[in-house]
Amino acid sequence: MIGYSCIACAETQPAEYDGFLCPACGNNLDILYDYAAAAEAFPRQLGSSPVDIFDFAELLPVFRKTPFPLRIGATPLYAAPRLGESAGLANLYLKDESCNPSASIKDRASAIALQRALETGAGVVAVASTGNAGSSTACLAAALGLGAVVFVPESAPVPKLTQLLSYGARVLAVRGSYDDAFELCLAASEEFGWFNRSTGHNPFTREGKKTCTYEIWQALGGELPDRIVVAVGDGNIISGIWKGCRDLHAAGLIERMPRIDAAQSESSAAISRTVHKLRQDKSDTRDWTSVEIDEVEAHTVADSIAVNRPRDGIAAVKAVIESGGEAVTVPDSEILEAIPQMSRLTGVFPEPAAAAPLAAVKRMRADKSIDVDESVVCIVSGSGLKDVGRAAEIVGNPIIIEPSLEAVRKCLR
Ligand SMILES: Cc1ncc(COP(=O)(O)O)c(C=O)c1O
Ligand SMILES: [Zn+2]
Repeated sequence: MIGYSCIACAETQPAEYDGFLCPACGNNLDILYDYAAAAEAFPRQLGSSPVDIFDFAELLPVFRKTPFPLRIGATPLYAAPRLGESAGLANLYLKDESCNPSASIKDRASAIALQRALETGAGVVAVASTGNAGSSTACLAAALGLGAVVFVPESAPVPKLTQLLSYGARVLAVRGSYDDAFELCLAASEEFGWFNRSTGHNPFTREGKKTCTYEIWQALGGELPDRIVVAVGDGNIISGIWKGCRDLHAAGLIERMPRIDAAQSESSAAISRTVHKLRQDKSDTRDWTSVEIDEVEAHTVADSIAVNRPRDGIAAVKAVIESGGEAVTVPDSEILEAIPQMSRLTGVFPEPAAAAPLAAVKRMRADKSIDVDESVVCIVSGSGLKDVGRAAEIVGNPIIIEPSLEAVRKCLR
């Protein structure tokens, strides 16, 4: 790590800078590296599987001498031929992030952010979350012996809240939206001197999520697919996935960049709307400091991507625009349908947000914005067990029978 650069105005800060936002314009920061070390070290990673994300030390902003107490990352990339066939694609893959310790991709970000918290001597980590970033922070804080304070909207699904409480975090369920929880966490972190891990605002979160791209590159033998499809709320996962591509390119490890597609609910489409708005304007140069991310009133069944005001919005919009990807919105009904479709054809059970990329892929095939032979990786960002209530809305409940063979026979008829 050699410093920071502002996502919007590109002003740089030295590595010793200890703020989270650009002092010039207030936007989020991006971490800069010396790519020469990675160019040498990374090819050695090909042909092996990573132990965890700390294997990619040359392109991480933190350093760990001892193994991290939980295995972060090193998740499987599955070929999904039957799901691909049903979605109209010959080369579909799923990156199964539910295999992380707290069952979502958020553990990648939390590991890097909490390692940074340790390096700065922080004792308490705070986070605002729709649920997963919180349960991830609580999980890793428990493993590392740090305190965790988590701000969630009171409507967060019960499994996520129970997970948080089980890990021993102090859980503050805010009467209001995720956005209200975010503002409160900011103010409280300032007031009480907590290390704020909140998504996007904390530049270390993107650095964790980018390791997902490195693993895809490694699993595909040193290449990236034609497309990576990502569910988008705050926009930090998608900006992390794109950062991973930019890193590999800067280190000379890939020549061809993938397109990064954003999958959003029609009822929470801040990033998609902004991408479509900006694409109307065909000018070659763009002043990102003057770009306004659309605000929405989000209310989707996919609670993890219900965000009014995306906290890594500029970086997310840049990921789609710079990569030439699509910003797709789908109705909630298609997100719910994608849950059993993925589960039945692959054995991977996604939460609603994690099913959104599949719903988006089907849309893109239907409107012919992607070809049948493009290779596509859908990021399955969280486990279906995170929100069984929503899955039950589409798969229903089992038939209850008497304990007799006759009853079984009747059901089989
Ligand atoms: C399972 C899952 N998928 C997708 C997202 C969206 O990520 P982001 O808010 O960084 O866009 C989240 C965020 O909470 C999530 O938990
Ligand atoms: Zn700036």
